[in-house]
Amino acid sequence: MKKIALVSGASSGMGRCMVTEIADRFPSLDEIWVTARREEKLKSLAEEFPGRIRIFPGNLRKQEVIDSIVSALKEEEAKICILVNAAGFGKIGPEGTISARDTSGMIEVNCIALTVLTEAVLPYLHRKCRILNFASAAAFLPQPEFAVYAATKAYVLSYSLALGRELKRRGATVTAICPGPVTDTEFFSIAEEKQSIAAYKKAFVVSQEQVVRQAIEDAFAGKTVSVCGLPMKGFRAMTKILPWDLILNYYN
Ligand SMILES: NC(=O)c1ccc[n+]([C@@H]2O[C@H](COP(=O)([O-])OP(=O)(O)OC[C@H]3O[C@@H](n4cnc5c(N)ncnc54)[C@H](OP(=O)(O)O)[C@@H]3O)[C@@H](O)[C@H]2O)c1
Repeated sequence: MKKIALVSGASSGMGRCMVTEIADRFPSLDEIWVTARREEKLKSLAEEFPGRIRIFPGNLRKQEVIDSIVSALKEEEAKICILVNAAGFGKIGPEGTISARDTSGMIEVNCIALTVLTEAVLPYLHRKCRILNFASAAAFLPQPEFAVYAATKAYVLSYSLALGRELKRRGATVTAICPGPVTDTEFFSIAEEKQSIAAYKKAFVVSQEQVVRQAIEDAFAGKTVSVCGLPMKGFRAMTKILPWDLILNYYN
């Protein structure tokens, strides 16, 4: 039986960072399977870890790439020990400024693709599989001017918590990763096309390595939610204690 990790969104940012951390920390894994649209970036990642990476280039808004991963799992009789769903994007902007393509794209990539890929590979999970889903601190509270993105991440958090309960019977776990703003990824160059994030949010940035390392530790400790840094932990606590209407009156 081949033991593998599967990482979506592996061509840049935290997905790519996940691949390098997993490669270093889990030498006993036979391969790390990676997917994203940009094939060249996946190839250069594969060159960094010769013989350990298998690439599945493709757009997760289409079913083909998911089908090709499932066929390969079947053919290779592979078991997934670590599944990371990192593919995702957001667009910041007030109502009416985000294109229909980007609006549906956020829902398709962040919610539908994450769910369809996860459900498709469930039969191939190792008994003690760790699933790490990138949600966001935006999942904790509705975000005016980042409304659709935050709603997609609230979905990821809810789905992850429920799936984690179901998989507990088998010994597998699901961890929703909920960072605030993260540096050194391509996220904001895509998100800030129409509008920048509120300046005060930039005061809480953390590095992608911090988020990824903490997420791996939290996942292997069986935590259902991974939040990096005290400010975001405080933010999460606040959203559990105070009425959302009250927070939103002061928030933006
Ligand atoms: N950066 C932050 O501040 C932040 C904070 C909280 C949560 N997050 C979440 O963390 C995750 C990783 O984001 P990041 O910051 O690392 O951003 P990133 O550098 O932009 O990475 C996003 C990844 O998603 C892939 N992707 C996007 N659309 C895709 C599609 N249609 N099909 C297949 N792959 C697609 C991209 O690859 P291709 O372009 O090659 O397809 C890329 O590898 C995302 O889910 C994001 O929402 C980010």
